[in-house]
Amino acid sequence: MTKIRFLLLSLLLAPGLALASGGEVHMKSAQVDLDDKAALQRGASLYMSYCSGCHAISYHRYSRLSEDLGLTPEQVEQNLIYNDQKIGETMNTGMNVADATAWLGKAPPDLSVEARAKAQGADWIYNYLTSFYVDEARPTGWNNTVFPGASMPHVLWELQGIQHAKTEPKHKNAKGEAEACEMGEYKGECIIGFELSEQPKPRMTPEQFDRVAKDITAFLAYVGEPNAAKRESTGVWVVLFLAFFTFLAYLLKVEFWRDVH
Ligand code: HEC
Repeated sequence: MTKIRFLLLSLLLAPGLALASGGEVHMKSAQVDLDDKAALQRGASLYMSYCSGCHAISYHRYSRLSEDLGLTPEQVEQNLIYNDQKIGETMNTGMNVADATAWLGKAPPDLSVEARAKAQGADWIYNYLTSFYVDEARPTGWNNTVFPGASMPHVLWELQGIQHAKTEPKHKNAKGEAEACEMGEYKGECIIGFELSEQPKPRMTPEQFDRVAKDITAFLAYVGEPNAAKRESTGVWVVLFLAFFTFLAYLLKVEFWRDVH
């Protein structure tokens, strides 16, 4: 009997254990909440101001923003459309690909499904946006620990302020070989964190900037899966149903075993 109980218990716990042991990721969570309309609205506005000049979201129409984010079409037209596009059009950029490539060395990619494209999901974007640091050796003057060698400049630096890499010499293993750096390297040393310059004074406190990065991330997560909010609520019912079904199966099992003993 104990064996069976053990078996049942391990069956119940197995999915949890599998999840807990899954890929170790050193990323801060963006705590994306697709039901937080205010955050998505702020994210949309920030995105249009700071990102849409270079990046398109060509799978998404402006009209969808009005339907999903609780805005009137007029609000979208007045606050979120910066170029001469119409509300029924997809969110394209004014940037010409050839110009962008000539200027930055790379064309800014379309961000329609960016939040889904990375193994770490939307968290990747949040960590990327907060991980720019000064690196004079790079053409843009910036480097990034999440995306080393990125050809995108730190477009939010006035809000965040200027981050410098804090480094320490590489650790050596028993054989005297240098070990790999967790956060990447700067000038031959391991990056262990960032330091914010006091001058020029950032326009935001670290907490305010964190909110900005999270809101933009939430917006891009929403854009990647505009139906996700609905799907998540369906998911809750599915899980509740499964839990209920498991309970029934358990009762049934108790009933069967009563005869056996
Ligand atoms: C000046 C133009 C420019 C602006 C403005 C800009 N980006 Fe970029 N972005 C780029 C370029 C160029 C790349 C490609 C970098 C590379 O591959 O080296 C890029 C890459 C990215 C990537 C990684 C894409 C990938 O998977 O390779 C993300 C995410 C991103 N940008 C988000 C943003 C967000 C969010 C904003 C607004 C806060 C923004 N970008 C503003 C030019 C820009």
